[in-house]
Amino acid sequence: MDELILNTGDINTKTPSGASGFLLQNNPELQKLFFTPTENQDPRVNDAKIRRLYMQAASQQWYAPQRINFDQAINLDEQSLKIWQKFITIFYTLEKMGLNVIQNMMAKAVRKYKSEEMAFYLSAQTFDEARHVFAIEAYLRKLGAPPKYQWRYHVLGQAASMGAFRVENWMFSTLFSENFASTFIRRARQANIDPIGNELCKYLLVDESRHLHFLHIVLPDVMDRLSMFGKAYVKGAQYFIMRFSEAVLRSMEAEAAFVGLDRKAMMEEIFENVEKGYESFGVSRKFLWFPKIYPTKITPSQRIVASHL
Ligand SMILES: [Fe+2]
Ligand SMILES: [Fe+2]
Repeated sequence: MDELILNTGDINTKTPSGASGFLLQNNPELQKLFFTPTENQDPRVNDAKIRRLYMQAASQQWYAPQRINFDQAINLDEQSLKIWQKFITIFYTLEKMGLNVIQNMMAKAVRKYKSEEMAFYLSAQTFDEARHVFAIEAYLRKLGAPPKYQWRYHVLGQAASMGAFRVENWMFSTLFSENFASTFIRRARQANIDPIGNELCKYLLVDESRHLHFLHIVLPDVMDRLSMFGKAYVKGAQYFIMRFSEAVLRSMEAEAAFVGLDRKAMMEEIFENVEKGYESFGVSRKFLWFPKIYPTKITPSQRIVASHL
């Protein structure tokens, strides 16, 4: 277990976190007061790091109606609008699924790893996901597509949180889904998304990077404690989730290209980031089975390079 490092550098004190947030900067007494994890005789994860991340999450909260100007007009051509409606509806479905799954898994994870800091942190992440679903709902209404959960993707949430190693499976699945979400929103901002979508993606990205940070803190310990059988189980579930996602994205290649998203490059980036994640947990790059990414099938006329807004 790492020693408690009293580094407040990455705690955002600009948002209203009260006088304490400000005083933390140069006050070892207060740092000790807030940064010391709840006493734990048998730590199974890095409680000190998780507590710091909880504090960061708490200080980075945002409220969509205040931060994002939903009053802006959406000026997209008819086809682009239809495509974004479709993509954001899928994104909404995945976020809503993520919210349901984290609500279901949080207590199980806290119990399994006997970490009160995880109870703090995962509550914050649950609220992050609620905020995302809330904000994306409003955005979908602006796009003229009332939010609708698409049951055909529901199987992903089930594959990510069922079976004998459900807690571990959920966490590794989250590594994939958070990487997927981050890559999609980063690339959407560079494509021809409208200004509201662009602002929304900016705020989502801050949270999703923090969610990835959490996984990088806990997954090495999770991997260490996992039996051979558990590892094989996780591998199988991850393969299913990645193959399903690859197939879904492949079926939308022409539409993605129309609004300036490169399906193949996006999938490659996601797999590469996931692979790097596993490497940093000390398993070889061959640990995961990656599905084949199919070559581009679209014709040049289907590819319209969208201008940046
Ligand atoms: Fe999210
Ligand atoms: Fe997330």
